[in-house]
Amino acid sequence: MKQLELKTTNSEETSQFAARLAAFLKPGDVIALEGDLGAGKTTFTKGLAKGLEIKRTVNSPTFTIIKEYKGKLPLYHMDVYRVADSFEDLGFDEYFDGEGVTVVEWAHLIEEQLPQERLTIFLYREEEDQRRMVLKPMGERYEQLCKEIFS
Ligand SMILES: Nc1ncnc2c1ncn2[C@@H]1O[C@H](COP(=O)(O)OP(=O)(O)OP(=O)(O)O)[C@@H](O)[C@H]1O
Ligand SMILES: [Mg+2]
Repeated sequence: MKQLELKTTNSEETSQFAARLAAFLKPGDVIALEGDLGAGKTTFTKGLAKGLEIKRTVNSPTFTIIKEYKGKLPLYHMDVYRVADSFEDLGFDEYFDGEGVTVVEWAHLIEEQLPQERLTIFLYREEEDQRRMVLKPMGERYEQLCKEIFS
């Protein structure tokens, strides 16, 4: 499977890349974000929201797990950091199969509930303001998406 990498040197660059990616997204797309605390997952999501022309401020949905925003496409923003404690069925599938784009922070914590086909993005903090992003397309749709973004 092909892996794609890029570096950003400030949060604005991370946000801009996400906004650019947003332009290529379609209903039902799922983006899994991985990375430590402060890696930039929410920063990325805010940029993506901007790209989807969402006007509302996107905040970390830590206490609500899922937040929904209206834009060019709906955005379902999940932060499943605290979900690991709960075995409740939160009905994730309805979002993954929905009309919007789903972004999941800490996605590996719900690994078994994630769709097999998705775009996983790993964010690594390299320096104070530098991040390395590694994109891992899983499935044909996301291979295609990555080709489009980097062409
Ligand atoms: N190149 C960069 N890309 C993204 N964020 C950066 C960058 N450089 C500095 N930052 C800063 O790092 C922090 C990233 O925080 P953010 O909330 O996006 O991380 P997170 O991965 O969502 O963390 P959490 O696991 O707590 O949800 C922000 O304060 C942001 O301004
Ligand atoms: Mg976050």
